[in-house]
Amino acid sequence: MAGGEPVSERGQRDGLVVAIDGPSGSGKSTISRRVAAELGLAFLDTGAMYRAATWWCVRQGIDLADVDAVARAVAELPLTIGTDPENPSFAVGGEDVSVVIRSTEISTAVSAVATNLAVRAELQRRQRGVIEAERHPGGRSEGRGIIAEGRDITTVVAPDADVRILLIADETARLARRAREVHGAEDEAALEATRDQVLRRDAQDSTVSNFSTAADGVITVDSSGMSLEQTVAAVRTLVEDVR
Ligand code: DC
Repeated sequence: MAGGEPVSERGQRDGLVVAIDGPSGSGKSTISRRVAAELGLAFLDTGAMYRAATWWCVRQGIDLADVDAVARAVAELPLTIGTDPENPSFAVGGEDVSVVIRSTEISTAVSAVATNLAVRAELQRRQRGVIEAERHPGGRSEGRGIIAEGRDITTVVAPDADVRILLIADETARLARRAREVHGAEDEAALEATRDQVLRRDAQDSTVSNFSTAADGVITVDSSGMSLEQTVAAVRTLVEDVR
């Protein structure tokens, strides 16, 4: 990538693609969104897509353990995604679900859908579509570029991304962040309530994707002892280095 962004066959510059993976509470959504906003890139939270798929199935009363029924429902998921980092949005059938997909009900249920392999194939296909549309949008415009974050972006969805980062943090830091995010506090009760969500979910999710060790060519950033500002700066520097 030295010497600038690649030029597509159409003679236009391709947008930069940045892939960021990490476990719950690593801060990857907040950090990805901030860096995308600062650098004028689009932003895709792929976890929100699994959440929207879960909401859609729950809403239809589908038993999440029924692998085929869930796969059929997700194949038809009428999902619209807004990739502006200042205002990321998710709508299903025209209904804005950006807030409801963060509820405890969905957080507790989402792993059942995210570990469904047919669902993964379908959502990965859509994620690649969103990334490609920002890399080379077609027509005369240049690619804006995108930061996509999740669990398998550096390895499965966009292994050819220009920048690939695994954002990690130790368990204490991750639990404290999620407790603050979900309960607005870091006291014992909030930590305990968060423990199941973070640890059980990661254990379950890690059966279908490896997001605890960096694949070849993926840079690890450990945010345990870093503030949000410091982590944003570190990730931003990595992106700017190839820009
Ligand atoms: O990051 P999050 O908590 O919003 O993710 C929601 C769920 O989706 C969580 O169970 C992990 C899963 N997920 C995944 O399996 N692959 C991704 N690329 C992103 C999220």
